[in-house]
Amino acid sequence: MKKYLVIGNPIEHSLSPLLHNFWIKKYNIDAIYEKKLVHKNDIEKILNDMKESKIQGINVTVPFKKSVIPFLDQLSDTAKETQSVNTIFKRQNKLVGDNTDVHGFSEAIQLTDFNLIDKKVLILGAGGVVPSVILALKNMGTLEIILSNRTRKKADDLKKNFSFLKVINWGESIKSDLIINATSIGIKQNEEIKLDYLKLDGQLFYDVIYNPSETKFLENAKKYGKKTENGKSMFIHQAIKAFEIWHGIKPEINKEVSDLIK
Ligand code: ATR
Repeated sequence: MKKYLVIGNPIEHSLSPLLHNFWIKKYNIDAIYEKKLVHKNDIEKILNDMKESKIQGINVTVPFKKSVIPFLDQLSDTAKETQSVNTIFKRQNKLVGDNTDVHGFSEAIQLTDFNLIDKKVLILGAGGVVPSVILALKNMGTLEIILSNRTRKKADDLKKNFSFLKVINWGESIKSDLIINATSIGIKQNEEIKLDYLKLDGQLFYDVIYNPSETKFLENAKKYGKKTENGKSMFIHQAIKAFEIWHGIKPEINKEVSDLIK
C-alpha cells in the first residue's frame, strides 16, 4: 500500500487527509494519506524515508514550506519563484518540491469571475502562504500588489524576492480593488482586523481562512455590501493538483467534496 503524508506543526486541524482519502477510495487507489506532527529536526529523516520509497508523497504545511527546500533534489519553477514547497513527489529517484498553492489561489480567484487585469490588490499578512498568493496575482496580470504586515521586516523581506511589491504600514488603509486577508486573524472567533472599510473601497474581499467559513473580516465586508470569498476553493484546488501529480488522476469537484470541508 502506498503511503502519503501531510506534515506540519500544528497539524491536528488539517483537512487534507479527509479530501485525499475520499479521492483515494473513490478512484480505487491502494494508498493511505495521514497527517503527521513534525519538528524541524524530523524533516531530514522523513524525506530520507521518502527517498527509500517508504513514503510516496508528502504535503507540507506551516511552518515548513521553506525549511524543506535544502533536503530536496529539485524544485519546480513555481516552488523556486516562491521559495515555498507544499507538495513533494519523486521523479527518477529524485525528490522534487512543487507548489500547488499558486494554482489553488489562481483557480479560486478565477471562479469568482473577478478580473485582475489593471487592478490594485492589498494583501494583509506576510506568512507562509503569501509568496504563493503574490506569484498567482502577478501571473494573472495584477497591476499593483500592496502588502501590509504587522512585522514590517517580514514584508520588506518579501520585497527581496518580489521587487515590484509596494509595502505599507500595518493599520494603514489604501484604496484597492481586491483585499486579501492572509493573516491568521479570524481563525479564533471574535478576533478581528481593524480596517477602514470605506477607505479600502474594494469590490472583492478574500480570506485565505476557510474555517470558520466566515471570519469577522468577511462578515464586516458583507455589511458594506461587498462581495466575499473564503479560502475553501483554494484549499480544494491545491489538493486536486497535488493528487493529480501523485496519482495521474484529476479529481472532480462536486457537492460531496465541497461538503467534506466545512
Ligand atoms: P508564519 O508567520 O509562521 O508563516 P502564518 O500563520 O503563515 O505563520 O502567518 C501569520 C500571519 O498573520 C503573519 O503575517 C502575522 O503577522 P506577523 O508577521 O507580524 O507575526 C499575522 N498575524 C497573526 N496574528 C496577528 C495579529 N494579532 N495582528 C496582526 N497580524 C497578525
